[in-house]
Amino acid sequence: MRSDKLILILGAKGMLGSELSIIFADLQPICWDIDDLDITNEEIVQKRIREISPSIIINASAYTDVDGAEHNQEQANRINGTAVGHLAKTAQTIGAKLIHYSTDYVFSGTNKSGYKENDDTNPVNAYGYSKLQGEQAIQNICREYYIIRTSWLYGKNGKNFVDTMLNIGNKQKEIQVVNDQFGKPTYTVDLALRTRRLIEDKLPYGVYHITNEGQVSWFEFAKKVFDLSDMSVSVLPVASDKFPRPAKRPNYSSLINTKIPLSRQWQVALNEYISKR
Ligand SMILES: NC(=O)c1ccc[n+]([C@@H]2O[C@H](COP(=O)([O-])OP(=O)(O)OC[C@H]3O[C@@H](n4cnc5c(N)ncnc54)[C@H](OP(=O)(O)O)[C@@H]3O)[C@@H](O)[C@H]2O)c1
Repeated sequence: MRSDKLILILGAKGMLGSELSIIFADLQPICWDIDDLDITNEEIVQKRIREISPSIIINASAYTDVDGAEHNQEQANRINGTAVGHLAKTAQTIGAKLIHYSTDYVFSGTNKSGYKENDDTNPVNAYGYSKLQGEQAIQNICREYYIIRTSWLYGKNGKNFVDTMLNIGNKQKEIQVVNDQFGKPTYTVDLALRTRRLIEDKLPYGVYHITNEGQVSWFEFAKKVFDLSDMSVSVLPVASDKFPRPAKRPNYSSLINTKIPLSRQWQVALNEYISKR
């Protein structure tokens, strides 16, 4: 990639954004988070982004509290939907490519074999609905975009399932974890590297599914976290109706990637994350 192409990373202090900032560091991207630019303010978004005129905008900012979105729907829609529209308009006006992240939660989760890039969306919770609004805004406004759907993300600098399990495992010797929701755990490092490749390889614009490979339940995921960490914690499988939460989760939300080479298996990526912690 030529270094005269200015890259703007939004949400740069978040879990994925901080990893993107590292992976693109040699290209000296501009890295902003909410303190630098609140993406919900259309006027400021247009003004600030036009001033620096990037050729690539990577948006990793989002409202990511899945349960919180149920009672903060307006805020979730504003950040994940309307504000993404502001970014899309700005990108289109200045001729920048827009790279944006979405989620497996745009799907209903009834299809046991998972979801391909062009399958019908039908979110079952407010977060999924807000993220779908963002996808639609980009598709309606932009010509040069990548919408990257990912799932069950973990990495440094963010709240995630792996760290939660390890913290709980340090305090208790037994834990119940749901075994009837299935998905593909994904390491932020792998996603950030694939994002860079997508851009550098100049692949056709559109929707991509990028995850680590292998479908698991949260129960199997938790067991592997403790195995790889040499912690003897007893993980007990339970049905999700034993753990009522504000947001309904899709049962089967595995993203199927039919467009680009597959990423490595989830266990290999998880081992790397745990060994580097
Ligand atoms: N985490 C997952 O399991 C998962 C799964 C599938 C897809 N995704 C998608 O992947 C992307 C990255 O997720 P992540 O987990 O890395 O998110 P994250 O850690 O929550 O980071 C999001 C960042 O965006 C910032 N932000 C929030 N509102 C903003 C605003 N109005 N203007 C500018 N910045 C704002 C946040 O700041 P504050 O922290 O101060 O709010 C935070 O630094 C998101 O699009 C998410 O929907 C995540």
